[in-house]
Amino acid sequence: MSAPDLIVFHARLVPCSEVEIAMGRLGELSEIDDGAIVVEGGRIERIGKTEEVLAQTTLGPDTVLLDAQGRALVPGFIDPHTHALYHGRRIPEMQLRQQGKGYLEILDAGGGIQETVRQTAAVDDDTLARETRRRIAEAVTYGTTTVEVKTGYGLTPEREMRLLRVLAQVRRRAPVEIYRTFLGLHAWPQGEADREAHLLAMDGLLADVKKRDLADAVDVFCEQGVFSPEDTRRHLDAARAAGLAVRLHADELRPSDGAELAAEIGALCADHLLAATDEGLGAMAAKGVVAVNLPGTAFFLHEQALSAARQREAGVVAALATDHNPGSSPTFSMPMAMALAMHRAGFTPAEALVAATRGSALALGLQGSRGQIAPGFRADFVLLDDPDYRILMYSFGMNPVHAAYAAGRLVASAGRMTEEVKAWIDS
Ligand code: NIG
Ligand code: FE
Repeated sequence: MSAPDLIVFHARLVPCSEVEIAMGRLGELSEIDDGAIVVEGGRIERIGKTEEVLAQTTLGPDTVLLDAQGRALVPGFIDPHTHALYHGRRIPEMQLRQQGKGYLEILDAGGGIQETVRQTAAVDDDTLARETRRRIAEAVTYGTTTVEVKTGYGLTPEREMRLLRVLAQVRRRAPVEIYRTFLGLHAWPQGEADREAHLLAMDGLLADVKKRDLADAVDVFCEQGVFSPEDTRRHLDAARAAGLAVRLHADELRPSDGAELAAEIGALCADHLLAATDEGLGAMAAKGVVAVNLPGTAFFLHEQALSAARQREAGVVAALATDHNPGSSPTFSMPMAMALAMHRAGFTPAEALVAATRGSALALGLQGSRGQIAPGFRADFVLLDDPDYRILMYSFGMNPVHAAYAAGRLVASAGRMTEEVKAWIDS
């Protein structure tokens, strides 16, 4: 007979299992005081009050019992938007922007994304893979147990395919789930003059990407001056025809009809949306397209975050991500994203936590297995340094994660990586 692998007890459970997760319909979160969870085979078997759970569960000789000492236990964070696959930093650019240069202006002048493309091309695959594993491992110490990673610092067909191969290398024996997105249309490759030929070549990769199982989804930077809604639609149509999920960077800095397009094509999610219209947000809500909030990017680019009030008005489901990248959001911290969502965008703590868990699961199409503390779900969870989950938004810039578990295994403790995770970085 099988027995539990792990029981965590004396925890304050915040399961995030409410049925309604759309903005404007979500109330306070229900909590189970002195709760326990039973983990078996990497999944949550049962949850409830400590006394009941312990009375109903038969322990095996190897069952580990963990006293949470009253700490809050929340679902592991799901970061559904990162550009973690790159080499190099862009520190001088941060100051250029403060001196008044725009993000798109720097990109047009051959800096920004183009700078990272050059730096990424200059290192070998093993270095790139190792640096990416290290970043993901760092994200895990902040409670991230599922992370999306995009390509996008290759730009040409050859270099983008190389990035997909490195990503496959990164995922081997990964301690947390890594969701893969192909972002070949992230910026125009320098020196490429034939617009039509380039777009066709990028569309032409997608069937092979799917056949070789190199990506889960396709994304496009749909923005005035980058890729138009027409370019975006065509590429994402090709993606869908190949059997890949579709999403887009929409209306990040200037209104670009991105939210409207996301609704029209029924994308999984549309991300950024700082310049989205109310009509666009409303259309997304009507079509079930998730709004991925990236308040770290708004903060770092000195822009106004997408307001919670507008999302409530639209009734859209909000997700929350770091957008980790070397140019517009060099953070890995989902707690920081939650703090910014609350203090810069007006999310309630409940909205911010639900966005970072259930909303983000929905943005990746993983809502059936992740984002909740509930029987049958993957045992991805985080113990916080306080009984009150709002410590996440309160101790901004700090790390309130006491321990993180992925599929029932310890992956971070007291802000540090486990030995197993360190070994994976060096693998
Ligand atoms: O999500 N907007 C495009 N892509 C990233 C930034 C990438 C970069 O600056 O390197 C973003 O903000
Ligand atoms: Fe992004």
